[in-house]
This record gives sequence, structure tokens and C-alpha cells, in this order.
Amino acid sequence: MPTNTNNRSPKAETVHSPLDIDRIKADFPILKEKVNNHRLVYLDSAATSQKPETVINAVTDYYRRKNANIHRGIHYLAEKATAAYELTRERVAGFIGGVDPSEVVFTRGTTEGINLIAYTWAEHNINEGDEIVITEMEHHANLVPWVVLAQKKKAALRRIPITICGHLDLSHIDDIITSKTKLVSVTHMSNVLGTINPVEEIARLAHRQGAVVLVDGAQAAPHMTVDVKAMDADFYVFSSHKMLGPTGVGVLYGKKHILESMPPFNMGGEMIREVRFDRVTWNEVPHKFEAGTPDIANVVAFEAALSYLELLGMDRIREHEIALTRYAIERLSELEGLEIQGPQEPELRGGAISFTDPTIHPHDISTFLDTRGIAIRAGHHCAQPLMRILGKVATARASLYIYNDEADVDALIEALIEMRRYFGA
Ligand code: ALA
Repeated sequence: MPTNTNNRSPKAETVHSPLDIDRIKADFPILKEKVNNHRLVYLDSAATSQKPETVINAVTDYYRRKNANIHRGIHYLAEKATAAYELTRERVAGFIGGVDPSEVVFTRGTTEGINLIAYTWAEHNINEGDEIVITEMEHHANLVPWVVLAQKKKAALRRIPITICGHLDLSHIDDIITSKTKLVSVTHMSNVLGTINPVEEIARLAHRQGAVVLVDGAQAAPHMTVDVKAMDADFYVFSSHKMLGPTGVGVLYGKKHILESMPPFNMGGEMIREVRFDRVTWNEVPHKFEAGTPDIANVVAFEAALSYLELLGMDRIREHEIALTRYAIERLSELEGLEIQGPQEPELRGGAISFTDPTIHPHDISTFLDTRGIAIRAGHHCAQPLMRILGKVATARASLYIYNDEADVDALIEALIEMRRYFGA
């Protein structure tokens, strides 16, 4: 029957059709693996995501048909490789809200992006008596560089506390972000609590005091629409490997005038304009920050990951994860005594769900689940200060993505019930 396009209800245009998870699963070869004689139930995407066939093929296709060094040669392959590498930059620029591609710097990952900012921008802009503001829920990647820098510069490290429900407590924010604040560096989504932070509001408060804002998007960029201009982040960093792309590739977005004001991080080929024995001038951004031969093949293949995500649609991905997170929290709550960390409302959080059992250690939980083919992460999740605040040494963490469905959550719950029987709990 032909669709009457004039007669569509406004609701039909805003509600997205659900993801076809069976089709998505079929795109991920690793999900066909058997683990300890069980089908693989992969619930560790907050650590790293699995890769679809198109991304795996893009890596080999690069080496088979395009391999050459970029920005150097003027032969056929060099131009092909350079074009493919720069295409990914353009795709990233579009993916984060339509920024200028020259504001996109490729790094090795989120950690390197934050270190780059610490060793260049922060080294030159943070001085004795200044303050750096972070939150209590930061990953070590967005914590250790600032602890070290604050000590070196005799600056103070201030932190935004969390509430008992795992949200940021902004009730005293005017005492924390002040005229002394030079940098506010916050995670967009917690890798432990799943909390989605109000980065737009924090950026507004920080800018009012003249501070620069860095947002750690490692856990958010794979799961939701990111618009760095709307949130007014000065820097936004994330990793390819958590969003279907290869390892070894990260993105540092920076506002152009800030990137231009910063000295380079690594020195060597490609980041220079002119070199003499007594002086050197720098290349323009972003090349100033991309010394040496980058991870070309994996940057090129990252484009296939972005295409895959955009084809599904980030809004549909988010809707799927809200529904699945709701289901997972409901099912986990059926297990008496199991403690779930972070906000309970799926609309306010992502699908990284940390939990603890009253008697069974998280490492034992993970080991037992592995015998049933279920992969989760257990430990402090690179967030030791947060663990101390939560009063935990470790948690178990199941994290969801586009290739997970209710059957995966059911497998987790059944295995946890079986585990309790096994341990006599
Ligand atoms: N940051 C990653 C995680 O939370 C490795 O597991």
C-alpha cells in the first residue's frame, strides 16, 4: 500500500524504528565465537567494543589497495592514502556536530588526547595558585595528568562531588568553579556509574569564570549524539576502539584559536613548516599535533565505524540503549541484595552498569560468568578515588551496546542465579 506522506502523524516522524539487533549481531564475526562451549555474550563494550565486518575489511583493504605514507609522497598510492586518512577527519568533524576538520587532531586514544592538553595547553596556562576542577567520578585518564600537573605547578585540584544517587552535586558549584579556575575537566559519561553529566551547564559556568573546558567523551561518543559546539566544549576527546573502530586511534577536538595558541606535543616530521639548525617553525593545525607517521590504516578504518554508527543513527542507538538499560536494571534488581551503582533512571545514564553482590567478590563473579561465555569487567575500572567514595574495592560491570539484546541480559541474570547457587550464597 503506498504511503500517504501528507498524512503522517507528527509522532510517527519523531519515533524511530527500533534497531534490528539480529541483523546487527550478524555483522560482528566475533559474536559467532563459542566461549567455554557457550555462545559469546559480550557485555564489556565500555572497555572496548567489538568490530563489524566492514571495519575489519577496511583495515585489510587499506593494506591491500591503498598503503603508503600520507602527506609526503606525490605518487598515486600516497595521494590515495592521504585522501582516505583526511576523509576520516572530515567524517569525525561531522560526527561531533559539524566542526571545522582542522579542529580534529588524531591521537592514539582518549588518554593521549588528555595528556596532549596537559603537556601543552595546561603546561603553559596553569600556574601557582591556579585551580583545576575535575569531578569525583573521573577515570584515571582524566585524573592522573591533573594530579601530577597540579603538584608540579603548585596549583590546586578541586573536585565536584557526587550525590548518593551518582549524579554530580552542583549545589556548591559557585564555590568550586571560581575566578581562580583555569580548567574544568569532566567526563561526559561515567565508565563506572553510567551517569550522563550536564556538560553544557558546567561549560557555561566555567566560561563565566574564564576557564577552559575539557570533556572526556570516551564513554559518551559511542552511545549518543555529540555536538561539541552546542555544549561549547573547548576540548572534547574520545577513542575509536570504544565505538566499533580499531584500537590505537583517538580524537582530540579543540577550538581552532586554542589549538593554534598551543605549542606542539611531539616533535618530528610533518609537524613543522620550516626547520633550520637554529630554529623551527610549526605546521598549521591539526598537523602541528600529528608528528611522525600516524596509525594510518586504523584511522582509515575508523571511517567505516563512523559510517556504521551513522547508518543506524545515534538517536536510535540511544533509544535502544535506554530500553535495554531499563530492562537490565529491572532484571538485576530481582536479585536480592545485589547493589547497583549510579542513577537508576535509564534516561539519565548510559548502559555501563556496575554492581556488587553482598558475598561474592567481583573477580569471582567475572570468572564464573566467563565459564558461561559471558564477558564483563571486574575491578576498580581505573577509578580508584571513586571506588573509595562508593566504599568498594571493586565492582562487577556489565556494559551494553548496539549488538546486545534482552536475551544477553537474560543470560547474565540466569548465570548470576546459578553463581549464587554454586557459591552457596
Ligand atoms: N576505560 C575503559 C573501561 O572503563 C578501559 O573499561
